[in-house]
Order: sequence, then C-alpha cells, then structure tokens
Amino acid sequence: MTKRKHKREKALLFHNLTQQAQADSSSHSHIPLTPAEAATLPLLAGLPQSTELTKMKKFRFQLLHEWIIANLPQGRVADVGGGKGLLAYLLQQSGWPATVIDPTPQALPDKYKDFRLNRRVKIGPEETVPRIDRPFSADLAEPFDLLVSMHAHGCNVQLIDVAAASGKQIILLPCCIIDEPLLPEPGQHWIACLMEYALAKNLVVTPFRLNFRGQNIGLHIRPETAA
Ligand SMILES: C[S@@+](CC[C@H](N)C(=O)[O-])C[C@H]1O[C@@H](n2cnc3c(N)ncnc32)[C@H](O)[C@@H]1O
Repeated sequence: MTKRKHKREKALLFHNLTQQAQADSSSHSHIPLTPAEAATLPLLAGLPQSTELTKMKKFRFQLLHEWIIANLPQGRVADVGGGKGLLAYLLQQSGWPATVIDPTPQALPDKYKDFRLNRRVKIGPEETVPRIDRPFSADLAEPFDLLVSMHAHGCNVQLIDVAAASGKQIILLPCCIIDEPLLPEPGQHWIACLMEYALAKNLVVTPFRLNFRGQNIGLHIRPETAA
C-alpha cells in the first residue's frame, strides 16, 4: 500500500469512528463513509507531513502524556502494558501518581528527549516508577482512577469490562490483537471492534488521534456519568 493510501485509510477510519461514537451518543444511526466519499472530504487537513509523523513515533509517550494532562482531571493512573514506564514517569513528573502494570520487568530508560524544548533529559539510576510485574487482571484496577493502555497486549477487552463494571475511565491505543477474547468481524478494524464492544456496554467513547505515524488512534472510554 502506498503511504498516501495508508494515510487516507487511517483518516477514513478515524472519521468513521468519530461519526459512529457521535451517532451512538445522540441515538442517530451511523452510515460509514465509503473511500470514494472520503476522497471528497478534507480528512487529511491539519496533519503534519508523513516524514515528520514517522519521526514522532518515538515521542508517543510524551504525546500521550500531554493529551492526558490536557484533557482529563488529575487522578491515579495505571499504565497497563507500560513497558519501560516512560509514560508513568512523565505523569509522575506532572504530579499524577502513576504505576506500571506489565508482566515483563523492565527498567526505566536512562534518558529521553523533550521534543518541545529540543533537549535531552536524564533519568537518574535512583529514579523509579511503581510497578506491578504481572499480567493485567480486573482486581489490579481497584486503586486507580484511570487505566491507560498504549500498544499493550492481552488487556484491551478486559479494560473495557473494567470501565463498564467499575465506572473507571480508560484510554486505549490498540495495536496488535494478542491474547484477546474477542476478534473483529472480517473486514472490521480492531479499533472499530473495540469501540463497538464498549458502546454495547453503554460506555461513552471519544476517539482521538496523536501526531505520530503508526497505531496513533486512541479511544477515551468512560461511563456516561464521568466528566
Ligand atoms: C508492544 S509493548 C508496548 C509497550 C509500551 N506501552 C509502548 O508503547 O512502547 C506491549 C507490552 O505489553 C506487555 N504485556 C503483555 N501481556 C500483557 C498482559 N497480559 N497485561 C499487561 N501487559 C502485557 C508486554 O510485556 C509489553 O511490555
């Protein structure tokens, strides 16, 4: 697939997810755009050039950190499948208590680039983030207000179940389908499948997009009563 076609397909997916989420909350039916209809819309307006987006992928933790602190009330966060823990570290730096839940023990990186200030920031060997080195399970969610999962395995459906059962807010940036109890219909995108699953549980879903190339579409999922 050409880069341009890929970009257009991602834009179409995002457009259709947004329309479906809005149609569900207003009880109007949603008719997805066809690729031909999408070609007539300015779906790509405002996105950076693709080389810039490719470079931005390594800043995905910073981009998601910025999105969270700009859009949500401060609370206790679990970064599920958080890997080395850079997102949890950045949230801690902003005063948000954050814990990584991930079965693979991993150390924090020793540095990261602050792309806004264009400088390298060192993380000292004594600095840590709290970790629960276990696969995610619903009982681990209890102490947290917000559960975030970026490109994580085996926990997307479980997290939606937690949101439905407990009223907690979640953020998913889905990637591969690994160890999940649900599969998309043929031709259905995994993100659309997860969104449909959440909407069927009467949760409110707001799709959002971060400025990097790759799995950059997020779903903010919350109960109707949450802000
Ligand atoms: C592709 S990495 C993503 C890491 C990080 N969030 C990122 O964006 O780079 C997937 C992570 O999911 C973790 N993982 C695998 N199974 C899991 C499970 N059942 N519950 C929570 N995390 C899991 C892996 O150990 C790994 O760190």
